[in-house]
Amino acid sequence: MKIAKRLSQVKPSATMAISEKAKSIPGVLSFALGEPDFSTPENICAAARAAIDGGEHHYTPPAGTPALREAIAARLKADLGLDYTPDQICASNGAKHTLINAFMAIVDPGDEVVILAPYWVSYADQVKLAGGTPVVVPTTVENDFQPDPEAVARKMTRRTVAVLINSPSNPTGAIIADETIRALATLVVERDLWLVSDEIYDKIVFDGNRSLSPATLGAEAQAHTILVNGCSKTYAMTGWRMGWAAAPQRVIKAMGNYQSQTTSNASSISQAAALEALTGPQDAVEQMRQEFERRRDYLIPRLRQIPDLEVSNPGGAFYAFPKVSAYFGRELRGRKIKDCLDLCDYLLEEGKVGFVPGEAFGAPEYLRISFACSLDQLEEGMDRLERALRQ
Ligand SMILES: Cc1ncc(COP(=O)(O)O)c(C=O)c1O
Repeated sequence: MKIAKRLSQVKPSATMAISEKAKSIPGVLSFALGEPDFSTPENICAAARAAIDGGEHHYTPPAGTPALREAIAARLKADLGLDYTPDQICASNGAKHTLINAFMAIVDPGDEVVILAPYWVSYADQVKLAGGTPVVVPTTVENDFQPDPEAVARKMTRRTVAVLINSPSNPTGAIIADETIRALATLVVERDLWLVSDEIYDKIVFDGNRSLSPATLGAEAQAHTILVNGCSKTYAMTGWRMGWAAAPQRVIKAMGNYQSQTTSNASSISQAAALEALTGPQDAVEQMRQEFERRRDYLIPRLRQIPDLEVSNPGGAFYAFPKVSAYFGRELRGRKIKDCLDLCDYLLEEGKVGFVPGEAFGAPEYLRISFACSLDQLEEGMDRLERALRQ
């Protein structure tokens, strides 16, 4: 009995796999998973309960309730000054779902999508699922993970249909500089390509900074941007599965058609919760942001005390992404560390501390540390990391 070829190249999510392995070893402290450790704010939970009690039990329009799409448009107006009509918005089961909808809508077999490494685990596999080829442009810690627009331009071919950016980034936490976003927007407008902008961490930013959305760079740039966001990270709502895209109606219609034939609408209860998240008080967002900043301010100096680690200061999200390749080739009691997979296994088994190896993000010289955990856990975890590496 056959399994389709399209799935033969697709790997399961590496971050989820390492979290499972970490759970199976007693006493391990894991810094592998990418979700806020806070509970969803109570006003949002109350709105979900009210939706259940109020009978919101049925199908909604596939792209989301009119009220939710209006609320998403209103937030984009309030936060970014952008004008979108509800028919330029499609709400889905999380931003991951939004992204596959987008790739299914814009990628034909053989087409290419330029993605920047280190990249979030699912981008490359999703492009492949849509029949396309991910074309990777690397960035490095030495350059604070800033992409070079000329390097992006050099990777473009006649088959390129889109460039994908993620700022602040998972796994590096880097915010792409304004002038780079401008240069990339100019590039896609000149060549009439899509710019898929994954802005899922846009509210988790530090030092009074923010990430520039390419859609704000004028009508032309907005017309070429598929802006992706959602509730997961901003409102600690990963389990509710609410994401969305804002983009020109032509592509939103295609994404909505695809969604209507695959999953239909996102859960009606989650949509009601998202409506409250977007229109209700936003204080919890700021409280969580401050807490993430406090943890980052503890973590980065701590990592810089460990010999031979190179780490940049993340401008947003909740990840540090140190370069650990100086440890490759070292040996302890006959155990040789060849690469980051080996190093993460060593840290898990000997150090009782779990991280995601950079191989999962197309950057095998690094590992990812999530600081979506308490300061106490972070302190204990960094003690373990330092001890294991000094050995
Ligand atoms: C960069 C990035 N984009 C998208 C997602 C998907 O988020 P969601 O939970 O909304 O599917 C994640 C989740 O880890 C992410 O890190």
